[in-house]
Amino acid sequence: MVRRVLMSGLILGACVALLSTIVSNQGTAEEAKKKAPPQDAAVERARREVRMLDDIYKTAVVLVTEHYVKTDSDLAAGSAFKVLFESVAKKGWHEARLVDATGHPYSDLNLPKEGFEKKAIAELLAGKPSYDQVITEDGKRYLLAATAIPVVMEKCIMCHENYRTVEKGKAVGAISYKVPVQE
Ligand code: HEC
Repeated sequence: MVRRVLMSGLILGACVALLSTIVSNQGTAEEAKKKAPPQDAAVERARREVRMLDDIYKTAVVLVTEHYVKTDSDLAAGSAFKVLFESVAKKGWHEARLVDATGHPYSDLNLPKEGFEKKAIAELLAGKPSYDQVITEDGKRYLLAATAIPVVMEKCIMCHENYRTVEKGKAVGAISYKVPVQE
């Protein structure tokens, strides 16, 4: 009888010990969640800005190409947007440029630059829709971002013959952004 009481006492003790370990483990998991660094809201805002700009720019490029570009001697959306990007950058909003991902750009000035752009193009060619990185310059943070440009319409091939052989949906280029992070 005494042995039985002792045994059940032991079993109960073991159960309590096990339960308290489980409970305390849950406790630490909860605490870890709370202690995780807060989301960087300023960077998230910059990312949202890039998504918005990207949507506007790309929709406009397609509209211009669809309605105004009839032959390969017409002003390409690519050329018009170069002027637009320059004027936006001059006003200090952000920087944007068209970058090639095929190795055969219309203009060599559009080849990806060493560093972020080369890395970003590699990531886009591997299938990512976009790639970004936060940098600090003179104590100010900037979001560098690149978003893929696929061949969105047959007309693109009229001027970019090299796009003809590119797999459907694969990136032929990117828009590369540098957006100030508003702290
Ligand atoms: C009327 C001819 C024309 C058409 C159509 C055209 N482009 Fe271009 N594209 C150009 C020219 C010219 C440039 C070079 C602009 C510059 O840097 O001055 C260019 C530049 C680019 C670049 C930068 C890399 C490079 O090749 O220099 C990309 C990416 C691009 N175009 C994608 C497209 C896509 C996608 C379409 C279809 C929506 C398209 N283009 C339609 C003429 C054209």
